[in-house]
Amino acid sequence: MAEIVIVENEDAAGAIVADAIVTLIRSKPDVVLGLATGSTPLASYRALARRIADDEIDVRGVRGFALDEYVGLPAGHPESYRAVITREVVEPLGLTPELVRVPNGDPASIEHAGGDYEAAITAAGGVDLQILGIGRTGHIGFNEPGSSLASLTRVKTLTEPTRLDNARFFDSPADVPMHCITQGIGTILRARHLVLLAFGAAKAHAVAAAVEGAVSASQPGSAIQLHPHTTVIVDEAAASELTNLDYYRHAWANKPAWQGI
Ligand code: GLP
Repeated sequence: MAEIVIVENEDAAGAIVADAIVTLIRSKPDVVLGLATGSTPLASYRALARRIADDEIDVRGVRGFALDEYVGLPAGHPESYRAVITREVVEPLGLTPELVRVPNGDPASIEHAGGDYEAAITAAGGVDLQILGIGRTGHIGFNEPGSSLASLTRVKTLTEPTRLDNARFFDSPADVPMHCITQGIGTILRARHLVLLAFGAAKAHAVAAAVEGAVSASQPGSAIQLHPHTTVIVDEAAASELTNLDYYRHAWANKPAWQGI
């Protein structure tokens, strides 16, 4: 079962995530991080940037792979995930830009972009720690309901709820691309440690389905139940539809300190 950690707010989650990543970097300076976009991980990236600066951690060797990208946005578009990852992760953390990859959403090469990305992750030795958000529809990465639990990086068609959720970043809902390229659920499951973050009541249903529901392609987040090392960090609102809350709190309160997350 995933470990469920209930925190007061996004900053408290950020401190836990930053701590886990700093520990990893110290033991493996060329660690491979799996990077999520969206609003959810932003506080964790900020906490990590502060830790790196305060503790003067050398991150020049840290490598990264983003989960997903829109297909067909012009190069340099501010809402492309390449631009978001540069702005929110690479620059504030001081990572080496060439070591951080994002799937290539250029339509000219899209037919082999998925295979190329899989090969790059494999060549890097796989992802050590994968940060995940979860969409209202239960998606992880851009794996919408119905995605194969064994899927690899490929092009997907976005659902209308997801396009509407993401319309806040664009001038109009019609500007949100129809297609994306995303690591598959099978790709995500190969990472050595999954850290899924969710905050706010709008995520409560997706979190409960992912953690306590049946494992099903209809709820892509439920694939975390197939992974031997998953940490789910949520606030009270996002945890509000979980039924086994007392046990999660008990287990976290009694967790041996040496274990980390
Ligand atoms: C987006 C991203 C996902 C993200 C999810 C939730 O569309 N592709 O990687 O986890 O939807 O987004 P947010 O964190 O903004 O709620």
